[in-house]
Amino acid sequence: MKTYYHDNRDDVDQREPHFGGEELTPDQLKDIGVLYYHCNDIDSVDKIAEERNYVSRDVIQITPEKLGGPEAYAEKLRTFYAEHLHEDEEIRYILEGEGYFDVREKNDRWVRCALETGDLLILPAGIYHRFTLTSKDYVKALRLFKEQPRWVAINRPIADDNPYRSEYLTSIAAN
Ligand code: LAC
Ligand code: NI
Repeated sequence: MKTYYHDNRDDVDQREPHFGGEELTPDQLKDIGVLYYHCNDIDSVDKIAEERNYVSRDVIQITPEKLGGPEAYAEKLRTFYAEHLHEDEEIRYILEGEGYFDVREKNDRWVRCALETGDLLILPAGIYHRFTLTSKDYVKALRLFKEQPRWVAINRPIADDNPYRSEYLTSIAAN
């Protein structure tokens, strides 16, 4: 995985790298509650799932074909790319293909996490984020679920008043 500041150019397709010129370290990610692992095999994924009490999972494959054509695909990309948060952690493990997760750092700047096969990313509840595929237009990812996942995406700014947002901000304040 590569992590860097997004260049914030909106005249360039969201699926392009948008490298802003400055990389971040895993520790800088950790400071905002984002955890990254590279798992070469499913055993390492199982271990993380077990430690964090994840009980089920599914595999999602995203391509224009799977989604029923270019228009439906474009619509899906727009939905994923709307800035949102969840009331639960989000864990994604890339089985094949690529994807970009953008997360907001402390000063509200976008940080891009470029994920490839074997990368596993854990986003804490309450962090603002968005997702896009890359120009390869293909990703196959494992989604891990807890018993009763609160999976609704709550968009910004509605989520500003969400208690999970406040809890998250408190949790990173001392870092
Ligand atoms: C999700 C990603 C797109 O909520 O953030 O599934
Ligand atoms: Ni999300």
